[in-house]
Amino acid sequence: MKRYEKFADEIAELIRSGVLKVGEKVPSVRHASRTYGVSPSTVFQAYYLLEDRGLIQARARSGYFVREHAKRPLPEPEISPRLSETTDVDVSELVFSVLASLRDPTTVPFGSAFPSPELFPLQRLARSMAQTVREMPAREVVAEMTSGHPDLRRQIALRYSVSGVLPPMDELVITTGAMEALNLCLQVVTEPGDLVAIEAPAFYATLQVLERLKLRAVEIPVHPRDGIDLDVLTSSLASLPIKACWFMSSLQNPLGASMDDNRKRSLYDLLQRHQVPLIEDDVYAELYFTREPPKPVKSHDRDGLVMHCGSFSKSLAPGYRIGWVAGGRYAEQISRLKLMTTISPSVPAQAAIADYLQHGGYDRHLRRLRHALERQQGEMLASAARHFPASTRVSRPSGGYFLWFEFPQAVDSLQLLQMALAQGISLAPGPIFSATRRFGHCARLNHGHPWDARSEQAMATLGRMIQSFCA
Ligand SMILES: Cc1ncc(COP(=O)(O)O)c(C=O)c1O
Repeated sequence: MKRYEKFADEIAELIRSGVLKVGEKVPSVRHASRTYGVSPSTVFQAYYLLEDRGLIQARARSGYFVREHAKRPLPEPEISPRLSETTDVDVSELVFSVLASLRDPTTVPFGSAFPSPELFPLQRLARSMAQTVREMPAREVVAEMTSGHPDLRRQIALRYSVSGVLPPMDELVITTGAMEALNLCLQVVTEPGDLVAIEAPAFYATLQVLERLKLRAVEIPVHPRDGIDLDVLTSSLASLPIKACWFMSSLQNPLGASMDDNRKRSLYDLLQRHQVPLIEDDVYAELYFTREPPKPVKSHDRDGLVMHCGSFSKSLAPGYRIGWVAGGRYAEQISRLKLMTTISPSVPAQAAIADYLQHGGYDRHLRRLRHALERQQGEMLASAARHFPASTRVSRPSGGYFLWFEFPQAVDSLQLLQMALAQGISLAPGPIFSATRRFGHCARLNHGHPWDARSEQAMATLGRMIQSFCA
């Protein structure tokens, strides 16, 4: 990372932590240069970068100021109710019908699960694919269908070491996207009828997997900023025979919540006391806006209780379908189950990603991607404050590309979806994120696409629709 990028990150952290407040002047170039011991041109370059990330703006003859993302910032969502009853899961029909309605590529994609393809380095990745396939030894294409391509496992292990986790290479199993990894992990540690602790709200595919495997859910509330409610989890573990937990400890989908490191350690200690395995879904790990990458719960794992699942779908190329799991004490069972079901993900796709990670400039791409997502988050927050009712609540995640909106209670988000689709706008309605179809007045909106006049207009249209429920 260049000096000006590091300096920009330091100022961004001051803004994010509230030391520098919205509307406040950031240190002048001369002052910053003297105080931080960097050259004026480094400060200038850093401020241009922060301007580009949407965090500060220049005012004529006055210097740079922390940008007012929203003239009237909307408050954060409330904690979801204290729930931990057990329930069968039956949401697949609803999820499939909503997902089918989101497929039209001409709609404004607020309901999409992916960022814009424009933000991925697909051309560069295609070069890696062409070259590796051309040079691939025949033996590799035919015989390397085991736990994963060795180069890719090495590259993934290297990335882990940056976040303070050092899983042995033989713990790493490469899978067809994180979705396969998550499915395998759950199958290894449960039998039909078992209880699994999940988040409320949760990623809708989690619910579908539980439904398919005939598992029962214990919904644990998630605080929009701090993540899993550890008190509710503690009492649930004490009173119910929970066999596994499936949680996202960083950039939770759909709330965007991230637990801090102390809470992650407490979560681990709690699970360790009960010897309940954790399936840690960490697919948004690379999309953080903070200076330091968030560490996973896996970084506290002393005895292989955590199965940490990752993916390149959110940060590089969803269609290559490459994910993985660092499976801890369950790695061997996971690997065997994979051999019995899908054998191996595509070897050329694994080799291409391995080559790209080594030579393609992944870190540079990730920095650009994070900056674009952060800028677009600011645009959507500001637009929501302009167009949505003042009683709307919205999350403020420190990464990723989703915002979670809590509209006034009168809003029915499934009905809102139908109204929005008729106007060419999609959204992800709250009930698809709940085993018990809660969150009827909530929705997840995606800001992973470049912001333009059409996005702004779509927010204004949604705002009018939301108002119509309250009239
Ligand atoms: C929270 C979460 N976990 C897992 C996945 C699946 O990832 P993959 O595409 O690697 O299978 C997604 C994708 O939408 C997701 O949002």
